[in-house]
Amino acid sequence: MSRFSQATIAGAGIGLRSTHYQDILNDKAAVPWFEVLSENYFGDGGLPLHYLEQVRSDYPVTLHGVGMSLGSTDPLDFSYLARLKQLAEQIEPAWISDHLAWISAGNRYVHDLLPLPYTEEALNHFAERLLQVQDFLGCRLLIENPSSYLSYRKTDMTEWEFLQELVDKTDCDILFDVNNVYVSGTNHGFDPIEYLHALPVGRVKEIHLAGYQKHDNYLFDTHGFRVHPPVWELYRATIEHLGPVPTLIEWDNDIPPFEKLVDEAGMAQKVLDEIA
Ligand SMILES: [Fe+2]
Repeated sequence: MSRFSQATIAGAGIGLRSTHYQDILNDKAAVPWFEVLSENYFGDGGLPLHYLEQVRSDYPVTLHGVGMSLGSTDPLDFSYLARLKQLAEQIEPAWISDHLAWISAGNRYVHDLLPLPYTEEALNHFAERLLQVQDFLGCRLLIENPSSYLSYRKTDMTEWEFLQELVDKTDCDILFDVNNVYVSGTNHGFDPIEYLHALPVGRVKEIHLAGYQKHDNYLFDTHGFRVHPPVWELYRATIEHLGPVPTLIEWDNDIPPFEKLVDEAGMAQKVLDEIA
């Protein structure tokens, strides 16, 4: 649990996007919690932080980032981590999450969350960096499974085995992105149910749901559509297996009117209510 806040996160939340500030604040939206993209609030003060503080005064929030690059061989970016820590002290999130991925090499950054080779060497490397970050921030992190479109010739274990080992080595928690597992399972030919059943029950603290885009021979995780039917089906199986884990609707491209997100979150809440 975070040292920043004891706020309770439960039910189906929505990713906070700037286009919806007014809808949320004016209408006191009936949403149990919001997830905040950390890097959008790293500036000193300004309007975004002003809005975030207003949202935070009414709702619990979590912090979600893409910038730690824990799988990279570049040195950890402690200026990034210091800004994240400052934001966490200000906003008091229930927890902080980032990805099982890397985004930089030789200090050149890509705009994709790239997967790791699932080897013992990569596991030790990732775990050692995650331990350093958890120590610096003073809290356990949630690590999210990525969607992926490539794999490595040298790989010794499955992604779910890698995640299990990571939890054992670092005591981290898991953010299970159901859409990502469906996308990666389709792209790489593994069974998402096998992945689900290998997860350490009790360590999955949050679930993500989003929409993908179908291409000729692969699925692309765009976060720009409603959750697709097979992902809803996998979500239901996930909640049946793991219990009522807090769930987030992620939508980052072609962001729809707020009501559409509320509607989507309502569908997730219905599953949580039916099964819990
Ligand atoms: Fe996600």
